[in-house]
Amino acid sequence: MINFLRGVPSDESLEEIKPLVAEGYKNAILKYGTDVLQYGHFGGFKPLREALGNIHDVDPDRIVAGNGGLEVISLFFKSLPHNSTIVMEEATYDRVAFDAVRYGHQIVGVEMTSEGVNLSDLERLIKTHSPKLFYGIPFHQNPTGITYSEENRKAVAELCGKHEVICAWDICYQTLRYDGRENTPVTVSDSGPVLMGSFTKTITPGTKCGYIVLPKEMVGPVTTVIANTRINPNLPTQAFISDFIEAGEYDAFLNFLHDLYRPKMDALNRAMDLYFSETDPVRITGGFFALVRLSQITEDKEDRFIKAVKDAGVSISSARAVFAPNILKKNRGKGLFVRLIFPALEPEQIERGVATLKEVEQSVCG
Ligand SMILES: Cc1ncc(COP(=O)(O)O)c(C=O)c1O
Repeated sequence: MINFLRGVPSDESLEEIKPLVAEGYKNAILKYGTDVLQYGHFGGFKPLREALGNIHDVDPDRIVAGNGGLEVISLFFKSLPHNSTIVMEEATYDRVAFDAVRYGHQIVGVEMTSEGVNLSDLERLIKTHSPKLFYGIPFHQNPTGITYSEENRKAVAELCGKHEVICAWDICYQTLRYDGRENTPVTVSDSGPVLMGSFTKTITPGTKCGYIVLPKEMVGPVTTVIANTRINPNLPTQAFISDFIEAGEYDAFLNFLHDLYRPKMDALNRAMDLYFSETDPVRITGGFFALVRLSQITEDKEDRFIKAVKDAGVSISSARAVFAPNILKKNRGKGLFVRLIFPALEPEQIERGVATLKEVEQSVCG
């Protein structure tokens, strides 16, 4: 089976990092002792916050480190006034959207271009909905693979600033760029933007660590939520990661990942150009995802298509859950959107999988 649904790092990457994690945890416990086995460090292990403060050039007191990116995003959503409106990209990380709705917030989706956000649509939504927050994934976006241009990213932040909307960038794929270039980091001032990061895809999902960089005035409300609900995060993990960063091993491992994932990304781009050039596919430069549109698969053909693809050895599902409700209406008649997750697959599987989607689309549509 070629499974395009597995949003996980490749097994090879886990095998590579396994001895480093084993050694790292042991050293962290021996080095920090009861400090990482006891309650404490409620905003995250202090040395890790300091290392992150250096990376983002901010005061470590503005950083909260937690058990994964999703946890800190969740704590942040909990700290917002109930029933806030949040603008998200038209297609986004579905769990973030579910979580926001669960805390009683409203979601509206903003249109995207290959450069990032459609700025006039964002301005229109800000004027009509008075949102509290904009949440975006500017690097190798989940699920479209889009990386915002620097100009677009700045323009979004400016527009948010002008209308007093908090701008939050989920940068968890920033360092996962495989085309030999580096993404320009987001600069942070006292008032923002908010940054949300994660080591899940860059170290391992099991070690589960993420962080948020907050504007000064938001540290208080988020800290209150932490004190009431989470207390301390997993401290041995954070101790291991802070030493891993400080020793330069994290950067070396990122280079290993870039080399590992590049041929997979190249295979995906080749296959998309070969079989889906008519849908003008996004050129993938990193991350984990691409979104393919099967323009001929209308709603009535969807189930038949997904089953036929499965019978041909490829697992996919409709990406409907990643779209905001206002966008789902607009997408009607545009065909089936499918999210392709590539890092855990081999280049040959990726090419064969994409080719299968095209073949089955043609056979289902006669
Ligand atoms: C956009 C985005 N943000 C955050 C996360 C957070 O992950 P975790 O909670 O595993 O650190 C993910 C993981 O898939 C993601 O795709």
